Amino acid sequence: MNPNSNIRLISGTSNLALSRGIADYLQLPLYELDVIRFSNDNLKVRINESVRGDDVFLIQTSQPPVNDLIMETLQAIDALKHASAGRITVVLPYFPYVRSDKKDEPRISIAARLMADLLQTAGAHRILTMNLHSPQIQGFFSIPADQIFADKIAVEYFKKRDLSKTVVVSPDAGSAKRAASFAAKLNLPLAILDKRRINDDDDARIHHVIGEVQGKDALVFDDEISTAGSMIETEKALREMGASSIRAFAVHGVLAGPAVERLSQSSIDEVVTTNTISIGEEKKWDKLTILDVAPLFGEAVSHIHNGESLSSLFAG
Ligand code: R5P
Repeated sequence: MNPNSNIRLISGTSNLALSRGIADYLQLPLYELDVIRFSNDNLKVRINESVRGDDVFLIQTSQPPVNDLIMETLQAIDALKHASAGRITVVLPYFPYVRSDKKDEPRISIAARLMADLLQTAGAHRILTMNLHSPQIQGFFSIPADQIFADKIAVEYFKKRDLSKTVVVSPDAGSAKRAASFAAKLNLPLAILDKRRINDDDDARIHHVIGEVQGKDALVFDDEISTAGSMIETEKALREMGASSIRAFAVHGVLAGPAVERLSQSSIDEVVTTNTISIGEEKKWDKLTILDVAPLFGEAVSHIHNGESLSSLFAG
């Protein structure tokens, strides 16, 4: 893409505040989609400006109503393609169906892979996303799919705290690699919990811990908090193992169903997340901290537009 081409930021309807933050960081105008719902429940998505030849960044996170937003995203990409956009990069701060990344039961869909197929079929040329549930999702794409990490801003945040007795805790083996990288950036030791689920609907159970948590300040690292079932199970296990305090960092604050009630009534001293998903006032409580990822996305957009490497800035 010619860096002299016109850059255009277009926001879907999911998380306008984050889109505005990215636009403000880049000091660029933000364009919004026109989305019309017909009486038969069909959607019509319209791009209001000419995008002919432009380097377009369509910003759309996954949050409720998840399935409507997917349709909105696909129609927006299709509309951009038919409006002769020069290049379409879809910015998905929280990737839709990110946890459906494998066939771990008979006769189920690998919906994250299906999402990748749909985005490409619609006409996306590139994808930019953050902290995928598993790295193999990048391989679902045959177009460039860049993953950036919120770790950097979390490290900056936690470095300002007293970390002298802190151990980073991975709540399960699946998160261990990322938690280890996070711990290394903070120069902290790591403990790994052995969490097992019978199937996706069951509460997780903690069996063992690798590492030392007794008398330590536990800093739990996870990619997301959805219902908070895992986090509460982790909290219980850490308390039983004698942790002095518990803080948690989860990149994506999905905060579904009972999550807010569970977390706000728990003994977790602080829950830190980011604004990849918009969190309404009714979901905020006094021990919740939300870090802003707009500058990171702004930098990434700028690098992609200028044909510069992302790895030097965002390598996990
Ligand atoms: C699981 O593998 C993930 O890393 C998270 O721990 C999980 O998605 C959290 O889900 P929930 O909050 O519903 O337990």
